[in-house]
Amino acid sequence: VAHPSPALIVDLAAADRNIERAAATFRDGPVRLRPHFKAHKCTTLMRRQLDGGGCCGVTCATAWEARVLAEAGFDDVLVANEVADPAGLAHLTAAAALARVTVCVDDARHVELLAASGARLGLLVEIDVGQRRCGLRPDGEELLPLARMIAETSGLELRGLQGYHGHAVLLESRTEREQEAARTAEILAAERDFLLAAGLPCDVLSGGGTGTWDLPGVLTEVQAGSYVLMDASYGRLDLAFEQALFCRTTVVSRRGTRIVLDAGLKALSAEYGMPRGTEPGLEVLSLADEHATALVPEGCALQPGDTTLLIPAHVDPTVNLHPALYVDGEAWAVDGRTR
Ligand SMILES: Cc1ncc(COP(=O)(O)O)c(C=O)c1O
Repeated sequence: VAHPSPALIVDLAAADRNIERAAATFRDGPVRLRPHFKAHKCTTLMRRQLDGGGCCGVTCATAWEARVLAEAGFDDVLVANEVADPAGLAHLTAAAALARVTVCVDDARHVELLAASGARLGLLVEIDVGQRRCGLRPDGEELLPLARMIAETSGLELRGLQGYHGHAVLLESRTEREQEAARTAEILAAERDFLLAAGLPCDVLSGGGTGTWDLPGVLTEVQAGSYVLMDASYGRLDLAFEQALFCRTTVVSRRGTRIVLDAGLKALSAEYGMPRGTEPGLEVLSLADEHATALVPEGCALQPGDTTLLIPAHVDPTVNLHPALYVDGEAWAVDGRTR
């Protein structure tokens, strides 16, 4: 199959080995994997992850993604986020008509909006375990009134807590990741105990990412997403997963040791820095809209018209720039974005 240049290429054998490594850990429980869709937004790949085993459902970031997943037949979907806009609430309602949908809240207003949507939804109260994004302060004070309000609202089911330590998942030191994961566990256990002591349910403790995938602590489910395709940022950590995503790009110009490739910011996110080359000694210096400028060793044979593979620095925003992933000659739609 002729694919465009630049194009995202998946090494399916490597992705399958990543799926199997995760499945081997989670298959026997009690902790399960709830793979995060936002890493690649491709339902074909997500189906393969669930078929690999060890999963209790899927995670996604937006109500729109939940709708895409529910319509694609995924029957247990967590939106690991707060939803407060009318379009989002409508997508949640549509998704909840097809699948078991759970969503996060950290404010009474969320509960009012979700109740008014009329959808039957599971709810997790989000706790800020140190990321300083969404979530209640972890002192139990705000938790109980909000949890009681949910428990008393018809159509909504209090299922438990979310605590995502986004500040910890990319720490290069395993010891530091262990410390942060332990802190998360301590916070979530205390919040869970507040709920249980008040006679409120807390069956689900959801959180974790690729950098902490094997440090669940008290979590009942782990929301890792990047592990299946990986990227250059996670590649710096000592994780058990292999690089499975590459941006195939064409050399468009060369002057001595400076080459220009046809993949720029419209094909690769620079949020976490420059992509990594696979060609020995190739170093990407900068990305412009349509071009990457790189240095290569003098002996490098790359000439205009040749292709080379780059490893994206950050998988999620990179895949989000592309309509498809190319897998063994097939185009797999990034349908969580394009549908
Ligand atoms: C709420 C939430 N859970 C889990 C993840 C896991 O992502 P990753 O696999 O990239 O660590 C993320 C990533 O940003 C997230 O925002």
